[in-house]
Amino acid sequence: MAGKPWNWSEKQMGNARKIIRVAVLVSGSGTNLQAIVDRAAKGDLPIEVACVISNRSDAYALERARKHGITALHLDHRLFSGREAYDAALVATLREYQVELVVLAGFMRIVTPVLLDAFPQAVINIHPALLPAFPGLDAQRQALDYGVKVSGCTVHFVDQGTDTGPIILQAPVPVMENDTEETLSARIRQEEHRLYPEAVRLFAEGRLTVNGRQVTICRL
Ligand code: GRF
Repeated sequence: MAGKPWNWSEKQMGNARKIIRVAVLVSGSGTNLQAIVDRAAKGDLPIEVACVISNRSDAYALERARKHGITALHLDHRLFSGREAYDAALVATLREYQVELVVLAGFMRIVTPVLLDAFPQAVINIHPALLPAFPGLDAQRQALDYGVKVSGCTVHFVDQGTDTGPIILQAPVPVMENDTEETLSARIRQEEHRLYPEAVRLFAEGRLTVNGRQVTICRL
């Protein structure tokens, strides 16, 4: 076993040892979920994926979770009277699974303060553009239409706006002249699969501090 790094405080050591319980919320394919699960399975992330929750029963992400023996839950938004009621049910489920970090990975729902207040600074999202450029839907299409030469992806804390929360990590991706929405999305997706597990690791190790819009990363 490696010795204690000379510059780690006892608090950092404590945080680094702890395994935190994570929920991944999905609506679709779940390639980002897969990247996180794969890194965790290798022992690279101090997390346990406690559950995967989808608002859609046909999300392939649920299948991915089941293949790894992870609890996969379908919570159908159509059964609730509104966004707050749905988020209240989400919060109840997340509490039941003793979740400490909520990871949105292609979760196609606007979340409300009901969820955000229950998990303050503990809900994160990945967006396929370099925010604040191109928030919202079809970010890759927006980037191509605008003619930018560089796009990328952003992991951020979730606040009440659309893709407006404090930024944790970003990665640039070049836009090629012959790119289509599909080719650019595929290149960005590769970076997402590297970046999102990294952000989860920083959170799990207790190395992120949020001060207003600034997120400080505690270097080891
Ligand atoms: C990703 O492009 C992510 O940036 C966006 O939703 C997509 C999810 O893809 N928020 P996947 O389901 O993880 O493959």
